[in-house]
Amino acid sequence: MSNRPILVTGATGKLGRLIVERLLARGQPVRVFTRRPDAAGALFGGAVQIAPGDFGDRRALDAAVQGVGRLLLLSPISARLVTDQIAVADAAVAADVARIVKISGSDWTIEPAGNSISGAAHAAVERYLTELPTETVSLRPNAWMQVSLANTIRLAITNGQVVAANLDAGIGYIDARDIADVAVDQLLADRVRGRTLNLTGPDIVSFRQIAALLASALKRPVATLEKPPQTVPGDGDFEHRAVAQFVRLIASGRAATTTDVVQSLLGRSPRSVADFILEQVATAAIPEYQP
Ligand SMILES: NC(=O)c1ccc[n+]([C@@H]2O[C@H](COP(=O)([O-])OP(=O)(O)OC[C@H]3O[C@@H](n4cnc5c(N)ncnc54)[C@H](OP(=O)(O)O)[C@@H]3O)[C@@H](O)[C@H]2O)c1
Repeated sequence: MSNRPILVTGATGKLGRLIVERLLARGQPVRVFTRRPDAAGALFGGAVQIAPGDFGDRRALDAAVQGVGRLLLLSPISARLVTDQIAVADAAVAADVARIVKISGSDWTIEPAGNSISGAAHAAVERYLTELPTETVSLRPNAWMQVSLANTIRLAITNGQVVAANLDAGIGYIDARDIADVAVDQLLADRVRGRTLNLTGPDIVSFRQIAALLASALKRPVATLEKPPQTVPGDGDFEHRAVAQFVRLIASGRAATTTDVVQSLLGRSPRSVADFILEQVATAAIPEYQP
């Protein structure tokens, strides 16, 4: 692998920053694309090259990809996802970037088609990438522990309750640190390991089991409550409609999957929900228990 910099988009976000930290720890030159150079500077100091710009600014993208060897492609869920990611990919191809590693949607939002506007957007980008003359791989992580599970944990700590549309629905949650480890592996490997990789945690855990794990970690009862998912109007914003669809798909059991991809790529088990809960509880401010 050359010592040309790796360009990371979405580098200041939840997952992107984990990927940048890991690349730097591996001694890789990293360039980050951001609308907020100050925020990137505060996060990474002088350790990274900063390419300022917005996905909608093709000139900024062309400047950002100059001399880049490989690209980590990540952008937030939005109505612009397809346009933005294709613009980055086009700029990368024009600059002879050798490989694109895309952070895609969860597999269950993409297949079968027709259930998720977010999954459809990621699928459109995945299809576009497969037509490019560049080596590409799309990582499809299951729901991240650091997002929906962390939120469930926070609410349980403050309210003593786990609330879900279906308490028995399971999720093969994945720790974002494992997604970052796989992304770095696929950026640095001699070859990518497929067109799409479905990444999950090691086991399927239901909301009822999460409540039990939390009760044990907190040493206090944690109640459970089943509550129908909120309805979001059809003209609501893209992200809210996408999240409402995730809630319904999860409630119907679609996220209850595990694969051995993390284990086979990294040679170790992915991090577990039980360990994540212990870690979160150990660092949280726990209000006094009032029975
Ligand atoms: N959470 C889950 O369970 C889950 C599961 C599967 C897949 N995913 C996928 O993960 C992605 C979200 O990752 P995340 O949560 O780490 O993102 P995030 O924390 O929301 O961060 C968004 C990043 O995108 C950058 N960005 C936003 N708009 C931009 C623009 N117009 N131009 C340039 N940069 C822009 C932001 O950079 P600046 O503000 O610095 O410009 C920031 O670094 C989505 O594609 C989602 O589908 C999430």
